Amino acid sequence: MSNAIAKEPDRPSVAIIGAGICGLGIGWRLAAAGCRVDVFERGAAGREASWAAAGMLAAQVETEPGEEALLALNLESQAAWPAFARVLEAASGIDLGYRGEGTLVVAAHRDDAAELRHTYEFHRSLGLDMTWLTGGQARRLEPHLAPAVSAAVLSEKDHQVDNRQLVLALQAAFSRAGGTLHEHTAVEAVDVAAGRARGVQVDGRAVAADMVLLAAGAWSYDIDGLPPAARPPVRPLKGQMLSLRMDPRAPIMDHVLWGPGIYIVPRRDGTLILGATVEDKGFDRDLTAGGIHRLLEAAWEILPQIEELPIEEMWVGVRPTSRDDAPILGPTPIEGLVVATGHHRNGVLLAPLTIDAVSAFVLDGSLSPAIAPFGIGRFHAQGATLAAGGGE
Ligand code: GLY
Repeated sequence: MSNAIAKEPDRPSVAIIGAGICGLGIGWRLAAAGCRVDVFERGAAGREASWAAAGMLAAQVETEPGEEALLALNLESQAAWPAFARVLEAASGIDLGYRGEGTLVVAAHRDDAAELRHTYEFHRSLGLDMTWLTGGQARRLEPHLAPAVSAAVLSEKDHQVDNRQLVLALQAAFSRAGGTLHEHTAVEAVDVAAGRARGVQVDGRAVAADMVLLAAGAWSYDIDGLPPAARPPVRPLKGQMLSLRMDPRAPIMDHVLWGPGIYIVPRRDGTLILGATVEDKGFDRDLTAGGIHRLLEAAWEILPQIEELPIEEMWVGVRPTSRDDAPILGPTPIEGLVVATGHHRNGVLLAPLTIDAVSAFVLDGSLSPAIAPFGIGRFHAQGATLAAGGGE
């Protein structure tokens, strides 16, 4: 490994920690702009949260009370997705499996309808574009919905993309743009001297870089060499998931489906993804009987047709979740150290905006107003301490 040298004299050399969607995507943009970019990944590229995700672009239906500021960011990135997908598909030659049928949120039983109505009213009060449906209207859209489904909300703008294709596409685009990927190569520390990032320590060696991007997902808190104020307060939030196999010539559903305790995401190739548990269990990777049982039972309640479908895969992922569930983007108190992490449940949705905004900051120092409220400094502004002792 040689010390980094800028490909173009006016462009910074950049060391990126983490080859997930953020690291590969920002690396792609920077390499395409003429930067020398090295991405370091402790495992295989894109095989953590980026691979475990379901790929829902659900800015509307996933919005919870207290997330109004995040909603604006999510909606902006959602709107950017179709153009982003076209550009990335052209750059990589890989189809992202973008699907625009929309998302149906259903009440599994009459008792659930009141809660669904409450959430619908909340979403409408935020100006979101959703339509209330009777159970019968929902079954006209998805004929295999259970007879007990008593009501539904249609969100036509909440689309989906195949996140694993996204990973492969970003990896291909990054390498076509001239970036260098170092898999199974953990960064031990960020080199900081006189308040400035100078590069990274890898395998006991210093790799110099003008800028360092920390995009290590749930591991972002654990990189050595940083003072507390520059360590993003990100923790792992476990999710168990599984996939079933439909006949792609006769799929049992087309929309993304949400019900109590479950979402179901149909891919064009017949994969049907069921997710996800939300468990504060650190980096625990166990698949549990209870976790998988709950997912299957909740899915079966609203879509009994899954009964005969073969199970294809079961997996565990860890969401990189910040203290306030919003991403941490942009500069840090260390000059030359930039972060893109903490995307919690919204990593795929926020990919276009994160990649655009963070790349722009690295290239010319411009901080997009969209990401300005989501800097690492907000945790200090609230009087929170980022002192060592593990991610919160
Ligand atoms: N965005 C879906 C999840 O985190 O499970």
